[in-house]
Amino acid sequence: MDHFTNPRNVGEIPNPDGVGEEGNPVCGDMMTFYIKVKDNRLEDVKFKTFGCGAAIAVSSMVSEMAKGKTIEEARRITPELVAKELEGLPKNKFHCSNLGAQALNKAIDDYVAKHGKSV
Ligand code: FES
Repeated sequence: MDHFTNPRNVGEIPNPDGVGEEGNPVCGDMMTFYIKVKDNRLEDVKFKTFGCGAAIAVSSMVSEMAKGKTIEEARRITPELVAKELEGLPKNKFHCSNLGAQALNKAIDDYVAKHGKSV
């Protein structure tokens, strides 16, 4: 609930190293993640979410979990882990947690594609 009413890391990163966008075709909600990478670590992570309360809480939690992690560690953030960190999500909101991990992964893919690294 705290991550919904007081989300962390909202916004955009100027000149990000990677951007990932993910949408949910069922509800039409959208999430964009921006990452800044330094020495293989996610130095900064920000997001913009147009979606339900769970999607906002998930984005906030994913950004907190990913910040400071290496690329490889950030890749291991799964929707299940995010839901667990949020102390559970209502069953009908679990699909919302997929968006966060997927959008973050796409931002990492974008970084990898731009920088020619294979991770
Ligand atoms: Fe769309 Fe939650 S209802 S992401």
